[in-house]
Amino acid sequence: MEPDPQALIAQARECLEGAYAPYSRFKVAAAVLDEQNRLFTGVNVENLSYGLSMCAERVAIYAAVAAGARRITAIAVTSSTAELLSPCGACRQVIAEFAAGDVPVYCDAPGMPHRWTVAELLPSGFAASRLGKG
Ligand code: THU
Repeated sequence: MEPDPQALIAQARECLEGAYAPYSRFKVAAAVLDEQNRLFTGVNVENLSYGLSMCAERVAIYAAVAAGARRITAIAVTSSTAELLSPCGACRQVIAEFAAGDVPVYCDAPGMPHRWTVAELLPSGFAASRLGKG
């Protein structure tokens, strides 16, 4: 059963202040659920060497994986602006590593969160079958 999108967005928003974004001033927070319905959150963490900055989605997913999660079942993302944010390309590939195509990705927006699926965010993505692994 899908989680309540607004509740998952609210859980992401709870950690938004912890984002470290002194360069872009654009704070992002993500919340993910794993196959045991455990919640993990993450924020973007920037670096003076800009290219080393890490997105909130990957911080949350990597925290889940470090705790033993292997399947992500829902993702929510929010930011310090009111506008709709959609995950960057690198995050989409990482999301696809751990989440099936039908997994919902809720992105905060004025009013109701926007809902994409993983497959909608990464159509024709690089698949394990290309390496003979799936
Ligand atoms: N950012 C995220 O955390 N997630 C996204 O999906 C898009 C961008 C961060 C990276 C950087 O710290 C800031 O937002 C501006 O790009």
